[in-house]
Amino acid sequence: MYSCALILAAGQGKRIKSNLPKVLHKVCGKEMVNHVIDTMRMAKIQDVNVIIGKGAELVQEMTQEKKVSYSIQSEQLGTGHAIICAKEFLKDKDGVVAIFTGDAPLVKSETVESLIKKHITEGNSATLLTSIIDNPNGYGRIIRSGDSVEKIVEHKDCNVSELETKEINAGMYCFNIKSLVDALDKLSNNNAQGEYYLTDVIGILKNQQEKVGALVTEFEETLGVNSRVELAKAEEIMKERINNKHLENGVTIIDPRSTYIGIDVTIGQDTIIYPGNVIEGNTEIGTDCMLYPNSRISNSKIGDNVEIQSSVILDSKVGGNTTVGPFAYIRPESVIGEKVRIGDFVEIKKSTIGNNTKVSHLTYIGDAEVGESCNFGCGTVVVNYDGKNKHKTKIGNNSFIGCNTNLVSPVEVKDNTYIAAGSTITKEVPEGSLAIARAKQTNIEGWVNKKALKK
Ligand code: UD1
Ligand code: CA
Repeated sequence: MYSCALILAAGQGKRIKSNLPKVLHKVCGKEMVNHVIDTMRMAKIQDVNVIIGKGAELVQEMTQEKKVSYSIQSEQLGTGHAIICAKEFLKDKDGVVAIFTGDAPLVKSETVESLIKKHITEGNSATLLTSIIDNPNGYGRIIRSGDSVEKIVEHKDCNVSELETKEINAGMYCFNIKSLVDALDKLSNNNAQGEYYLTDVIGILKNQQEKVGALVTEFEETLGVNSRVELAKAEEIMKERINNKHLENGVTIIDPRSTYIGIDVTIGQDTIIYPGNVIEGNTEIGTDCMLYPNSRISNSKIGDNVEIQSSVILDSKVGGNTTVGPFAYIRPESVIGEKVRIGDFVEIKKSTIGNNTKVSHLTYIGDAEVGESCNFGCGTVVVNYDGKNKHKTKIGNNSFIGCNTNLVSPVEVKDNTYIAAGSTITKEVPEGSLAIARAKQTNIEGWVNKKALKK
């Protein structure tokens, strides 16, 4: 059966107290609305429409890569009104629409699939996700008669006995598209909040003798984020899920509580992660790596058997058997080869470093192409910026760059070369040669005595 999804994301979220639209707040490094879109796709729903309003442009920009369509709700008159604003999307469609909210990122794709399956096999007009909790404060209550769901009553509209109900509406549903669209015409805003509630559609369908079903799931998955306290709670739950997945896959995480791994990160078997590591974005980490404490690795690909300690690696590649840090900074678009050493206080920016090259300490390499098996002495600086423009430096294979060398770009150092310590290189160094570019030493004998400086 055809299925599509609507994601409610038009509200500002007053309770989160933010200039940023609520659904753009991140959980484990990804915007809540993007978690929900990804979950829909994992549940095999391709056709996803996001209902936007508050901060619409920003929400659209931040979801751009997901290839979803949008409906605009320019005034937030309630969740039912939001769906009315998506009528254009639902028009001429026949099948199931899953409706989820952009502020509930913890729902699992398996649960979305079970909900759709239940909806189809039971032949329901609506099927909702519910859960049972001790403190249902703030949530819509599921009112049943016997086993069957009769209606949903919002917290603010509950009478005393309805308030006692512990079964809550997760705000996640499947509808038969035609039944939903017809029922939307019958919504009114005659309630405590003066809003058009999507939840009223359930009672309307029930009154028309249509079939309504419910799937009860654990509360954790249905947690809606309305405040920063709930945002932190969602982060904690998702972090534990992510870390457990890696532990089950054969990754050692010494202290999961202080290890932060983004949801899209992959990590190979037998990698060991010490506390204080933050691994973000689409990072891939190979097998048998040692991630010693306190690094941030973002959108990078790390090979097998790599050691990293107290360093920052952004949008770059690091080859197998390489060591990085402590205190190295690898900036975007760098490609570090295999068996390389990037040591302490080394900064690499937009450069390639060939296999077996050693850059052990106190060095800056920017906009450079460095060959294989080179050795950089302590304190080398690639002078890539002339105050106006950035220039490129090329260094061939087997070059030995002496300590405290400046390589004034653009400049080329050919294969099999030596540069004497303290040189400022401004001209090409030909293959097989030694370059010395520094003032010659002169000793003035007896100078101290003559000047009467001796203590
Ligand atoms: C809603 C449900 C409630 C349920 C709870 C679960 C209704 C009336 N109530 O309440 O039964 O227990 O979720 O978390 O549906 N939104 C719009 N446009 C609007 C209003 C809201 O797009 O005009 C979006 C919000 O951005 C948010 C979602 O809908 O992503 C839910 O809105 P929210 O105000 O948080 O509803 P709740 O009061 O939590
Ligand atoms: Ca909510």
